Amino acid sequence: MTSRGASDVVDLRARALAVLVGNHRAGYTVPAEGLYPYQWCWDSGPIALGWAAAGKWDDAWTELRRLLSAQWASGMVPHIVFWESCDDYFPGPEVWGTSHTPPTTGITQPPLPVSSAARLFVADPDRDRARAMLGAVWPGLVAWIEWIARARRGPHGGCVIVHPWESGMDNAPCWDAPLEHAPTASDPHLERRDVATVAAAHRPTDHDYRRYLGIVERLRAAGWDTEEQAAVSPFVVEDVAFTAIAARAASDLGQVARDVGEDPAPLDRFAAEARAALTALWDDDAGWFRPYDVRREAPLGPLTAGGLVAVWAGGVDAARVDRMLERLDGWAAAAPFGVPTCDPTARAFDPERYWRGPAWVLVNWLVADGCARSGYAERAEQLRASTLALVARAGFSEYYDATTGQGIGGHGFSWSAALTLAWLLPE
Ligand code: SER
Repeated sequence: MTSRGASDVVDLRARALAVLVGNHRAGYTVPAEGLYPYQWCWDSGPIALGWAAAGKWDDAWTELRRLLSAQWASGMVPHIVFWESCDDYFPGPEVWGTSHTPPTTGITQPPLPVSSAARLFVADPDRDRARAMLGAVWPGLVAWIEWIARARRGPHGGCVIVHPWESGMDNAPCWDAPLEHAPTASDPHLERRDVATVAAAHRPTDHDYRRYLGIVERLRAAGWDTEEQAAVSPFVVEDVAFTAIAARAASDLGQVARDVGEDPAPLDRFAAEARAALTALWDDDAGWFRPYDVRREAPLGPLTAGGLVAVWAGGVDAARVDRMLERLDGWAAAAPFGVPTCDPTARAFDPERYWRGPAWVLVNWLVADGCARSGYAERAEQLRASTLALVARAGFSEYYDATTGQGIGGHGFSWSAALTLAWLLPE
C-alpha cells in the first residue's frame, strides 16, 4: 500500500465501482455477469457494504431489502433469488421446483447479510434513514436467525448445512467424504452452463454436480419443508464457517437491538451458544477447527479455510488463533498468494479449482476482520495489504491461484470489487 500512489488508489476505486454498477440490476446486484445472473444470498452482504463505501446508501439498503423480500414464511432466506429468467445458469428455477414467489432455491447460505445490516446501521450518516431501514429489515433478519437456531442445530449446538451449496464453499475438500454418500442425479446428463465461460479445471467436477443435484432431488421430493431438511437430507454437516457467521450475525444484531427498541437477549443467547459450539469443533491434534459429519458422526478433513473463518465469530481462544496463524504462515511457502482455501500440503489441494485451494477476497476479509477484533491488528493489516496487492495486480476476479496470484474463475466479480471499496481502500 505504501508504494501505491494516490492516483492508483483513485483508479482502483473507480474500477471497483464500475464493476458494481455493471452488475447492478433492479434493486439487487448479480455476483458476475453471465456466470451468476441472479441475486445470491451471502454475496449480498459484502455487496451492500461496497455500495455504502461508495456513498450509495440507498442502493446498499435496497440490496438487503430486496433479498429479504424473497424470504420464506419459515424465516429461511434462499441462497439464490431468480429475479429474472435467464438461460445462462444451471440449475435454474425449474430444477429446484420450489413453487415460491419469486422463484428461489430451497436452501440457504451463511447469514452474512445480517452483519452487513448492522454495519450499515452504525455507519449510515443519515440517522433517520438508518433507523427507518434497520426497522424495515429487522423482522426478517431476526426471523432468519430464529429459523437457523430452530431448524439448523447440530449435535454440538452449531449450525448444520444440508447441501454443500449452503456453505457457500461448494466443493471444499472437506465435503468430499459426506458427498460420496449422497445420491446421484436421476438424469446423468448435465446442462452445465458455468463451464461455457470458466475453464472446467477451475470449477467443481461433473462427479460433484451429479451429487449436488441428487441432494436437490431428495429435498425437492421431501416438499421443501425447511423445518425438516436436517432430518431428510443425505448430506448433513455441522459447519464451522456457517456457525461462525451465524454467531457473529446474532451478536452484531444484538449490538444494535436497543436502537430499534428490541431486546438483544435472545440474539446474544444464540450467539453465545454458537460460539460455544465452535469450541466443540476445535480439533486439538490438528490445531484447527473442523466441520462435523452428522450422519457418520465424524470430524471432516482436510484442513480448509472454513476452519480459520471461526475467527470471524469473535471470542476464539488466543492460543487457538495463534496455532492457526502459525500453520497459515507455514502454508505461505507453497501458497504465497493466500489465504489458500485448502491446506496446500493436503492431497486434495488444487490451486485452480474453486474452493479447493484458490484464495478469495471474501475469505481474506473474514479472517482479517476476525483477527482485528481478536487483537491481531498487525495480521489484519498484513492480510489487507497482501489482498490489495493481489487485486491491484490481477483485477476483480472471483478467486486467485494462491500459488501464482493469477486471477481465475469469473471476472468482474462483485464481492471482490465491493470489498475493495469497503475494506481494501476505504475512504
Ligand atoms: N456457487 C454455486 C454455483 O456455482 C451455487 O451457489 O452455481
